[in-house]
Amino acid sequence: MNDLLIQPFQLAWATGALSHGPLIRKTTLLGDLSAIFTDGDATQLFPDRPAYAVDMFDTPGGEGELYVGVTHLYPGKVGDEYFMTRGHFHQRREQGEVYFGLQGEGLLLMQNQQGQAWTEPVFAGSVHIIPGYTAHRLINTGSQTLSALAVWPSTAGHDYTSLPHGFALRVIEKAGKVRIMAVKHG
Ligand code: F6R
Ligand code: MN
Repeated sequence: MNDLLIQPFQLAWATGALSHGPLIRKTTLLGDLSAIFTDGDATQLFPDRPAYAVDMFDTPGGEGELYVGVTHLYPGKVGDEYFMTRGHFHQRREQGEVYFGLQGEGLLLMQNQQGQAWTEPVFAGSVHIIPGYTAHRLINTGSQTLSALAVWPSTAGHDYTSLPHGFALRVIEKAGKVRIMAVKHG
């Protein structure tokens, strides 16, 4: 036993597989996501189908500490809308996050508190600095699993309720192409 040499946790960059550390996995099913898709009822056709899984190292939280996790967002569509994560602001609004694309193809949708929204393409090697005060959601526009590494302040928390009208952009497939559409609120 040598306390002066601690073996590190590991990440397989090509797949996002985490290992050599204590892990927590949270799987989100399509049936949990009816509220976020335009055709929410269609999620109830396959409610037990996993939409995404988040693996994270089970490390101590606290002021100044960071969490590390990988989101694996599976390919698929609900109607013409690509699979996506629920999306959130951080409860501690000022706290940002960094996402790193690992595999697959997709978009990171961001939206500030003024309601301005934009996207960045996510791919193996992409780096995304999510500022504070900015909601964020991953969207899988490809045919493979989209995996992204995230590093965020352990105190950030998640606020899933502060976008009463949802995000201002939707990403759909139309005529075989990825389309980013502004949402009209009636
Ligand atoms: C952590 C973070 C990611 C997401 C994950 C799932 O702050 O942004 O680990 O939590 O991509 O998305 P949500 O939490 O929106 O279901
Ligand atoms: Mn976050």
